[in-house]
Amino acid sequence: MGKKLKIVTIGGGSSYTPELVEGFINRYEQLPVSELWLVDVEAGKEKLEIVGEMARRMVKAAGLPIEVYLTLNRREALKDADFVTTQMRVGLLDARILDERIPLSHGMIGQETNGAGGIFKALRTVPVILEIVEDMKELCPDAWLVNFTNPAGMVTEAVLRYGKWDKVIGLCNIPVNAVYQETELLGESLGDVFFHFAGINHLHWHTAVDKNGVDRTKELIKKMYGNDENQSIVANIKDNSLIYEQVENLEMIPCPYHNYYYYTDKMLAEELEDFKENGTRAEKVKQIEHELFELYKDPNLDYKPQQLAERGGARYSEAACEVINSIYNDTRKVMTVSTRNNGTIKDLPDEAAVEVTCMMTGNGPVPFNFGHFSPKQRGLLQVMKSMEELTLEAAVTGDRGTLLQAFTMNPLITSGDVAKQVMDEMLEAHKAYLPAFH
Ligand code: G6P
Repeated sequence: MGKKLKIVTIGGGSSYTPELVEGFINRYEQLPVSELWLVDVEAGKEKLEIVGEMARRMVKAAGLPIEVYLTLNRREALKDADFVTTQMRVGLLDARILDERIPLSHGMIGQETNGAGGIFKALRTVPVILEIVEDMKELCPDAWLVNFTNPAGMVTEAVLRYGKWDKVIGLCNIPVNAVYQETELLGESLGDVFFHFAGINHLHWHTAVDKNGVDRTKELIKKMYGNDENQSIVANIKDNSLIYEQVENLEMIPCPYHNYYYYTDKMLAEELEDFKENGTRAEKVKQIEHELFELYKDPNLDYKPQQLAERGGARYSEAACEVINSIYNDTRKVMTVSTRNNGTIKDLPDEAAVEVTCMMTGNGPVPFNFGHFSPKQRGLLQVMKSMEELTLEAAVTGDRGTLLQAFTMNPLITSGDVAKQVMDEMLEAHKAYLPAFH
């Protein structure tokens, strides 16, 4: 010990940051972070200062020697970092509002990570994450990159395929939340059930086996979908009531985002109704953020406020801090992360990013073998992975034809002229963040 442990968080001005800070504070004994660098861009300066001060108060209240640095200079922060976490939102919430509003105005799902919105979030983010990787090669070549920025799977694959950087882990809070909720539903204790996840980010399925080797998947499906009390595990997806017969027949538990694919019309109708009454999810998030930042300004607040749970990303720090802890201490914890496929799922390319259950070692994630999916899952999974590959290719080449292929393939986008119209409208709306296309 005594050696410095430097963490850099890009997008540090996010309202989620107190959750991350709380995670580091709670693990300090095992993970003695000495420097936490919160980095943001000029447009996020005010938020960075507010949340940074709040982070300093939290550390002080915990009586820990973690030095919190705030900077707009990413390169200064990255120098000699041990772990870099990315949680930036390119174009801020205003860009997300467009990602949601434009497709909705054409009668399609308008969502942060799915459909046309998810594609454009990837197009804006890929150039930035690739710049970060280039900086890391120069300034902290031994560091791990832990990415949260959505669409987390595509961003991870961009780093692997186009950044040629292997030390990357993509994270999402969905598997963490599922493990908590479903362990409880089964009346078991945390750690006593093995959940085996496989698929891609926001489109994975899982099974559950208890400590006696009994497969509890069927029982869980019945408890989750066999009554009218289906609850979603994330705040941003309210309805999780899929058709019981269908899930029973799947023999695997789908993730909440499957609602968009298995029940598109219902989800769209609900989104449109919500949109009329409250605006899009991003507009609601803007309001929640405003309230959170008002709280964070309070010089007496030195702990994470309860209101943060209104955001969909609750428990994300659990994933981030545990991944970092596992690598640092070689804990070999079982976690579900996005990583290079390398044959884990035989139906997908080796170099694709997949979201799978892994053992987290000091040398990174080692995935548990999955094998082949049945046609019940395989078709949708392969379509979506091809759609992701095309989106990434378009992001680095700026090729409109390739992008239109991705649009046409996406099950949540109406094909033909409408697809082209929405694509053109979004290319125009986001052009400040899409240099490859202009
Ligand atoms: C879920 C997803 C995250 C996403 C979040 C959105 O938790 O797993 O990937 O970022 O919801 O939440 P928000 O509060 O921004 O709508």
